[in-house]
Amino acid sequence: MNSLKSVNDLSSDSIATIMNQAKLYKSLHNTSHKKVGNKIIGLMFFEASTRTNYSFQTAIHKLGLKSLIYNDTNSSTKKGESLQDTISTFECFCDLIVIRHPDKNLFEKVKFNKPVINAGNGSDEHPTQALLDLFTIYDSIGVKDQFKITFVGDIKYSRTIHSLIKLLQKIPTRFLHKYNFIGHDELIDCCEINSFIDKSNIHTNRYHSSELKNIIDFQPDIIYATRFQKERTELKLHNDLHSKEDIIIDNDFLNILSTKTILMHPLPRNNEIDTSCDDNERSVYFEQVKNGIYVRMAIIHILLRLDDE
Ligand code: NCD
Repeated sequence: MNSLKSVNDLSSDSIATIMNQAKLYKSLHNTSHKKVGNKIIGLMFFEASTRTNYSFQTAIHKLGLKSLIYNDTNSSTKKGESLQDTISTFECFCDLIVIRHPDKNLFEKVKFNKPVINAGNGSDEHPTQALLDLFTIYDSIGVKDQFKITFVGDIKYSRTIHSLIKLLQKIPTRFLHKYNFIGHDELIDCCEINSFIDKSNIHTNRYHSSELKNIIDFQPDIIYATRFQKERTELKLHNDLHSKEDIIIDNDFLNILSTKTILMHPLPRNNEIDTSCDDNERSVYFEQVKNGIYVRMAIIHILLRLDDE
């Protein structure tokens, strides 16, 4: 693996290597890591980010590497420079680029000469989030033959859901997983996921509603919620959805479910998970944030071949 632009770049072997390396880094938690030389990682964020950006920076610090942080407000794009030229320039300074950009077709439009990690391209993909989600699933409920997952919220525009579904189809037990999708009519159908799911013969149910009771019958191992991705939707849809009832998971609802069910969210959240859930042992969304550090350390480790340093 030279770059991680999409989950499609991952083989089942490379997924296993990342999971094992991340587990090793997590077990080393409070001890210092081997210093691995002078490699520089360029962080180019053209879209807002808290977790992904700072988790990459933390991973870089813990690995003893250096980072160079691109600042869009101060760059030559303001003088009319093309995105390609800006990226090609930044690549001259770095050994690896981490990029987040609002354009879902970024990787078709821009050529990269250095290894690159996709930190989110529009509504398309977010492969490092999917890997940390998988790591959190394994860490919380173990490696099982079958996962039953309920995805709640914005299925259509959530790049984290798109990447996680693709990733789950790559692990050895893939045909046994069962998915439920719960969301408003306008957000539940995503042609990329639908055609992928149909091709892969995945067992799914779609609930075009805001009724959480559909979760209770399904008894999922995992509930994966997302916020409404308002920056990716047209104003009319935004206003239409505003007038509808929100899907909100609260602590009373969580307590009806099996104690083994986990509640995940890539964050940031809006109203879809009430803060009353935060201390519930089923809630693992801040554990996802912590695991993101170790998974990103592992991804950088593999792409920069740090074992050979
Ligand atoms: C997500 C993202 O940016 O896609 N967050 C993240 O990276 N942890 C989810 C979101 O923005 O809703």
